Amino acid sequence: MLSVILAGLAGSVAAIPALAPRQSSSQAYASNNGLSLALSSIQGPVLGGGGANGESTWSLSIDDTSSGYKQTITGFGGAVTDSTVTTFNMLDSDTLSQLLNDLMTSQGASFSLLRHTIGASDLSGDPAYTYDDSGSASNPNLNGFNLGGRGNAMANMLASMKNLNGNTKILGSPWSPPGWMKLNGDIDGNTTCNNLNDGYLTSCPATGPDVASYFAQYFVDYINAYNNIGATIDAITIQNEPLNSQAGYPTMYVYADESADLIQNYVGPALSNAGLGSVQIWALDHNTQYESYAQTVLDNAGQYVNTVAWHCYDGPDWSVLTDIKNQYGNVEQYMTECYTPPASAGADGAWNAPANFVIGPLQNWASGAMSWNIGAQEESDGTFGPHLDGGCTDCQGLVTINSASSYTLNNAYYQIAQFSKFMPTGATVLNGTGSYTYSDGTGVQSVATLNPDGTRSVAIVNNFSNAIYVTLDTASGETWGGNVPEQSTTTWILPASN
Ligand SMILES: *[C@@H]1O[C@H](CO)[C@@H](O)[C@H](O)[C@H]1NC(C)=O
Ligand SMILES: *[C@@H]1O[C@H](CO)[C@@H](O)[C@H](O)[C@H]1NC(C)=O
Ligand SMILES: *[C@@H]1O[C@H](CO)[C@@H](O)[C@H](O)[C@H]1NC(C)=O
Repeated sequence: MLSVILAGLAGSVAAIPALAPRQSSSQAYASNNGLSLALSSIQGPVLGGGGANGESTWSLSIDDTSSGYKQTITGFGGAVTDSTVTTFNMLDSDTLSQLLNDLMTSQGASFSLLRHTIGASDLSGDPAYTYDDSGSASNPNLNGFNLGGRGNAMANMLASMKNLNGNTKILGSPWSPPGWMKLNGDIDGNTTCNNLNDGYLTSCPATGPDVASYFAQYFVDYINAYNNIGATIDAITIQNEPLNSQAGYPTMYVYADESADLIQNYVGPALSNAGLGSVQIWALDHNTQYESYAQTVLDNAGQYVNTVAWHCYDGPDWSVLTDIKNQYGNVEQYMTECYTPPASAGADGAWNAPANFVIGPLQNWASGAMSWNIGAQEESDGTFGPHLDGGCTDCQGLVTINSASSYTLNNAYYQIAQFSKFMPTGATVLNGTGSYTYSDGTGVQSVATLNPDGTRSVAIVNNFSNAIYVTLDTASGETWGGNVPEQSTTTWILPASN
């Protein structure tokens, strides 16, 4: 726009080249602890290295030639829960539209990977529900299938979000199937017999016909219903956290062999027969200590599964993803859940916790990462929700809805956007060196991408309490140097190499 106006004033197109950015120009954006920098433009690095002016220095390198190409980026984002949809729908239409732009478009974070809850999760208001609560073991044909008010609202919200960014990929995960499909007869977790009535668990009395095929049909009906509304479903997991069973909110145990059997013999064929064979089934959807679960599913349901979904809790050890990559060459991996509590929650609420749950997986072959819960409000008791009684109380999420016309973008939003905004769908992660964290948590972690337009993005998480001068060597033969503010994630955008 600016060049067009100036060219018009100069009366000649010859004025344009002089105003165009130089090939060697770089950009840099930073978000820091406390958000005095919030996706703020800062001085970009200079070609040739520049001078540190007495600042502490740090060296990074990337291999931006073909020998350094690693996985392809699908995207980044978070979970659309009932809490997200309920609170977003409290906003007036102008404010909602602004918020969705902040999440999904290049004016904001450019999210292109969303997970949503199939029926109730712990971040739902009372009562817990699924999309077929009127069936029973004696009438298992899903005649009562119905998205209901909350399911329809969620599908419509996802459709609006996908409309704003056509690259968006949506993953759906159930917290529980309909209660009548389970041995305990209950949507809510209940550690006794909290399992599918599929004949797999014999220590609890079966309550009716084997429901494995009805459970598979439940996924087919759900995907068709969402697709019809424009919330096209790209992938599912069989069960959120299949080894986590708790009372107070929907959960269910699904063991590794059982999961592989359900996918290989029921859900995979059902999707395929329904013309939904392009919907991917992702394995596990739980923490990195369950590597053998992922292996069992990949080994026994490999016809339908080529992707593993990981959560961040109890550890995590992201090197497990590299291990899986080394064993199953073509496998794709995602970090599908990590919660983002307020700073008062200690280490989990640290300014760089969200940056760490994105960068760790990316350094270990993941194609994307999603936080747990995009939106919530602060309830009168100081918890975030709505949530079920036994559910998460400090899942603040990326956005806090304050009133019909006001919302706050939280630290986690900015930290994830430092990646999502600058590492687009189709970018290639580059091999690199120089990331190191000391035992006291200080240090620098970095990951870089080669983007579809030839530019290169370098995300640098500096958890020192001082600014550092970073020097970056590229295998293509350049040296860049620039300032990275204290306790910030700073993303450099370097022009295409010559
Ligand atoms: C990445 O770089 C390291 C260190 O230079 C090297 O050992 C490793 O083989 C490289 N990996 C890939 C996938 O290029
Ligand atoms: C768990 O389910 C059983 C029925 O299977 C029921 O008798 C029991 O009260 C439930 N316990 C809880 C804590 O909900
Ligand atoms: C960041 O560094 C501080 C010390 O400045 C340390 O206390 C904290 O644990 C580090 N955070 C993380 C998540 O490693």
